[in-house]
Amino acid sequence: DHGGLADRYGRVATDLRLSLTDKCNLRCTYCMPAAGMDWLPARQLLTAAEITRLVGIAVDRLGVVELRLTGGEPLIRPDLEDIIGGVRGRHPDLPISVTTNGVGLDRRARTLREAGLTRINISLDTLCPETFAALSRRNLLERTLAGIAAAEAAGLAPIKINAVLMRGVNEGQASELTAWCLARGYELRFIEQMPLDADHGWRRDTMITAAQIRERLEGDFDLTPHPAERDGAPAERYRAVSRSDPSLRGTLGIIASVTEPFCADCKRTRLTADGKVRSCLFSHEEVDLLHLLRGEADDEAIAQRWRQAMWVKPLAHGTDSPATEGLAATGYVQPDRSMSAI
Ligand code: GTP
Ligand code: 5AD
Ligand code: SF4
Repeated sequence: DHGGLADRYGRVATDLRLSLTDKCNLRCTYCMPAAGMDWLPARQLLTAAEITRLVGIAVDRLGVVELRLTGGEPLIRPDLEDIIGGVRGRHPDLPISVTTNGVGLDRRARTLREAGLTRINISLDTLCPETFAALSRRNLLERTLAGIAAAEAAGLAPIKINAVLMRGVNEGQASELTAWCLARGYELRFIEQMPLDADHGWRRDTMITAAQIRERLEGDFDLTPHPAERDGAPAERYRAVSRSDPSLRGTLGIIASVTEPFCADCKRTRLTADGKVRSCLFSHEEVDLLHLLRGEADDEAIAQRWRQAMWVKPLAHGTDSPATEGLAATGYVQPDRSMSAI
């Protein structure tokens, strides 16, 4: 028995993804319903002090070596700088990254950097204002672009951009987005849409697969597999060179969560904004740490509960099962929480 977050299948989680809120200022169709959700009450959210304690337990007792802050939209938290600063104060060398939609980042990129943020991933599915508004149900493309520019100006390199391609929405814009990112030195990753939308509108036959993304891009870019080790990262990386302008080159990733799942190499443990351990994006079980944190439990008792939660991490999620009859026939059951609430 080692003290880390091992599971029954020999995987060990060393990468903590912590959600800071279930709220968001966008309503991306692949994630949230138009009306929003029933938000968690404020008293149920982890506080900055609780987060510092939990990350301390994760790093000191459970072998976690990397922290990513997510949401919902993490910039919704006015105390994001305090959260990062609190963790950074205790862990000078811990990589701390944030995944955000970029809205509001123009005003905070510098303070986040100063608080101790290491790296940032920003979601950008399109460069077209109309498509952005259709996809996110908000007319805020300019705010996201301003956020990306501010992150670059604040020195938050390397910047990674996440894009989900959707049939009939932005599927024709993959090359445009790639050229834009390559020109700026951002690492773009195309993500297969996962069945985690609140509206349960995901369909296998309309999702755009990694193979289709590669096929689309190969008309405009020469793609060769990246030599660097993947090491449990979700993105399959490529060296991309534009066919029309060979000076336009860089790294590109494809995250094939559905058709080429990477569960066997998964190193993640997750905490929801209300302090529950989820061993996987797709798990149906959660283990509550909030009541322990707010009770008399000492750090080792919390660590032990966390180990137990991770031990039963499922082997795989089953979204890739080759079935044509829709989700039910594949054995995949969508979790109660949709993406933004995880
Ligand atoms: P880095 O590679 O360290 O920069 O981060 P990341 O790509 O892991 O993080 P990010 O938050 O940017 O996530 C990008 C995408 O990866 C998400 O939209 C998901 O599609 C996918 N992803 C993240 N975590 C998981 C996971 O645990 N399981 C699966 N199947 N996909 C995940
Ligand atoms: N499938 C794939 N990616 C998703 N994201 C949100 N919902 C989904 C989904 N159903 C992406 C966002 C963001 C990242 C954290 O997750 O676009 O880049
Ligand atoms: Fe908000 Fe991100 Fe969900 Fe879009 S994908 S609604 S930006 S949390």
